[in-house]
Amino acid sequence: MDDSDMMRRLADKAGRGEGIGRDEIRWVLEQSDPARIGEICAAASAVRAKFLGNQACIHGIIEMSNICRRNCLYCGVRRDNRAVARYRLEPERIIELGAAAVKRFGYKMLVLQSGEDLYYTTGMLASVIKEITRQCGALIFLSIGERDETTYQKLYLAGARGTLFRFETSSPALYAKMHPGASFDERVAHLRFMKDIGYIVAAGPLIGLPGQTLETLADDIAFVRDLGALMVSTGPFIPHPLTPLAGSPVVPASLVRKAIAAARLAMPRVRIPVTTAMEHLWGDGFRRDALRSGANSFMLNLTPDDVRDRYDIYPDKNKRAECLHSAAAFAGVNAIIEECGMKLCRGFGIEFPVTDAAFAAGCSMDRT
Ligand code: 5AD
Repeated sequence: MDDSDMMRRLADKAGRGEGIGRDEIRWVLEQSDPARIGEICAAASAVRAKFLGNQACIHGIIEMSNICRRNCLYCGVRRDNRAVARYRLEPERIIELGAAAVKRFGYKMLVLQSGEDLYYTTGMLASVIKEITRQCGALIFLSIGERDETTYQKLYLAGARGTLFRFETSSPALYAKMHPGASFDERVAHLRFMKDIGYIVAAGPLIGLPGQTLETLADDIAFVRDLGALMVSTGPFIPHPLTPLAGSPVVPASLVRKAIAAARLAMPRVRIPVTTAMEHLWGDGFRRDALRSGANSFMLNLTPDDVRDRYDIYPDKNKRAECLHSAAAFAGVNAIIEECGMKLCRGFGIEFPVTDAAFAAGCSMDRT
């Protein structure tokens, strides 16, 4: 089969809602001709429009704490980095920030993210979730790392409905190398029980980890598909000078764009956010490119000024203008969405099975 045949086959398959397979994903990632890449991205964008409409949505992230018991080789807030000033926000402050983001700035979805900081007990997290949803009915995603199944069950009952939980790489050997003392199997076990509990699971790899190849990246995207995640969270690895991976190269934007397109062609109905590391490296231009390659949501930072510089998972993470937490940031992204011929969705977004009666009853907002 020549490349034009392959292109047609991918577009047909994805257009039928089937989604492309692992070898087709790899083919997408291997392409280097800009015209061909343009064609692939346009096909991915058409698939997004066909299955999800021309809507995009915005998530707000509150980085609650940069204290972490893990020692992931790529991460600037890893346990062994003694140079980072640690912080943690108290529950009252998190509630205040979350509620303000919803009531004042118009956010509908919040991500509560932190290092693996066991200071936050299950009870504390549950009361934060309950209080925010009581005040404003936001859809809450947790991004707090590995906790046991009972904890995630309790937090679901408290009102959380999503988890952001990347597996970083689906190669067990590379996973073990990057995560001292942890295993890929444990990671996947968490993803499975989160799904079983009923969470909207967002998962995906880091793109460009040393040791990753196009083959393993294709495996990663196929893995998200096989998992049945409803959201794909991925982003470029950005080397941090105070980690063992300092000085590693950064991937080109084109590879991340191809990964977004491949994910869209493989999973016509999932949510694919433009994540903060993409914006950090490549700015507003990439936001547009990503929407035009099949992405359909954004992650904006809501961490308060007094601590935001310290959430340094990659260098200078929260220093760019794109990361401003304000009505202006929300409006800026909204303008980009419209520029790309899309509309901000008014509710929680598209194809999310937030159908349980109890949750719906406690939630007054309009859900698209
Ligand atoms: N560059 C890019 N992303 C990173 N993360 C951690 N460290 C880095 C880095 N140096 C990502 C991981 C993690 C998420 C919260 O942040 O994928 O899951």
